[in-house]
Amino acid sequence: MTPTDADFRRAVDLLRSGELVAFPTETVYGLGADAANPAAVAKIFAAKGRPADHPLIVHVAGHDAVDHWAEQVPDAAWELMEMFWPGPLTLILKKRPWVPSTVTGGQDTVGLRVPGHPVALELLRRFAAVAGDHAGVAAPSANRFGRISPTTADHVREELGDRVPLILDGGPCAVGIESTIVDFSRGEAVVLRPGHIAPEHLEAILGCRPAIETAAGAPRVSGSLEAHYAPVTPLRLVAGARLLDFLSAQRHRGGRCAVISRHQLPQAGMPHAWQMMPADPVGYAHDLYVALREMDHAGADLIVVEALPDDPAWAAVADRLRRAVAGGGHG
Ligand code: TXA
Ligand code: MG
Repeated sequence: MTPTDADFRRAVDLLRSGELVAFPTETVYGLGADAANPAAVAKIFAAKGRPADHPLIVHVAGHDAVDHWAEQVPDAAWELMEMFWPGPLTLILKKRPWVPSTVTGGQDTVGLRVPGHPVALELLRRFAAVAGDHAGVAAPSANRFGRISPTTADHVREELGDRVPLILDGGPCAVGIESTIVDFSRGEAVVLRPGHIAPEHLEAILGCRPAIETAAGAPRVSGSLEAHYAPVTPLRLVAGARLLDFLSAQRHRGGRCAVISRHQLPQAGMPHAWQMMPADPVGYAHDLYVALREMDHAGADLIVVEALPDDPAWAAVADRLRRAVAGGGHG
C-alpha cells in the first residue's frame, strides 16, 4: 500500500514537469499539480471537467510555508494551525499578489492546508526539497466535477482513469469527507464547509463559535454549489419512521431501491440492496462515499437514505447528503 521511494521520485518528477499526481490525504484523495505553475494547474480543471473559476486548496508541508502564500494572517488563524495541522482543516487567507489566479479562481484569497496523511506529507516535503522550501501542491478532490469524492486509490482510477499519469496509493482515507474550511479573509472566522473538525472544536481555540455560511450564492466554495458529491442514481432522504412504508410502496410500484441506513435490514423490507452504516457521525462520515458509490453501482432506480439525526454533530455528513440529493440522477 505504501508508495515506494521510486513512486515518490516519479511523483516529484511529474509535479516538477507540470504534470498531475493523485495522492491520498486523511480526508479524500486529491488531484495535485505544482501550485506555482499555472499551466500545470490548468490541467487539473481539464481532467476534472471543473469550471475554471473554482478556487483550489494549496497543500503545503508545514506552517513555515504560510507566509509565502498568504499575508495579514490573523493570530486566531495561527492558533488553529497550531492546534489542527497537520489535519483536516483548510484556512482561507488573504493571498500574496504573486499567487496565480488559476489557483485562486481570480479571488484575492488562497486556501491553505497541511494534510495529516504520511504519504501526502512525504510527497509535499520531497517536492519542497526540490521546488523550493515553501512549494505547494494545488489539489481538489480527485473526482470528476460534481461527483462523489474518492476515498481509495481505486475510486480515483474509476473517476479519472488515464487522465492522471500517477496515483499514489495510501489506502483508504481515515476521515472520509473533505476538510473543514474556515475563512479568515473577512475579519471574523466563518465556516464555509463543515467537516470532521466541528464548530465546538474551533470554539475551544477561538473563544467563540464561528458563524457557518455554507450556502454562498457565488461559487466561492465549489462544495457550496447545491448539486455536488452526487451519484448518478437519483437519491432521496426518508425519515427513519417512514422508511419501511416508503420501501414497500416503491416495491409495489416495481421500483428497485438501494438503501443506506443506520439500522439493520428488516426481514420484511427486502429492497434491492441494503448498506448498513455506523450509528455515530464520525464512523458514518468515514463510510459515506464508499456507500454512495456502491449503492450507485447496485443497479437500483433510487437510492434511499435514512434521514440523519437533527443534531449539530451530524452537520458535516448532513451537508454532503443534502448536496448529493440535489445532484443525484443527473449523470
Ligand atoms: O479535504 C479536502 O479539502 C480535499 C483534500 C484533497 O485536501 N480537497 C478538496 O478540494 O475538497 P475541493 O477543490 O474539492 O474543495 C475545496 C473547496 C472548494 O469548495 C473551493 O471552492 C474552496 O475549497 N476554496 C478553495 N480556495 C478558496 C478560496 N480562496 N476562497 C473560498 N473557497 C475556497
Ligand atoms: Mg471536491
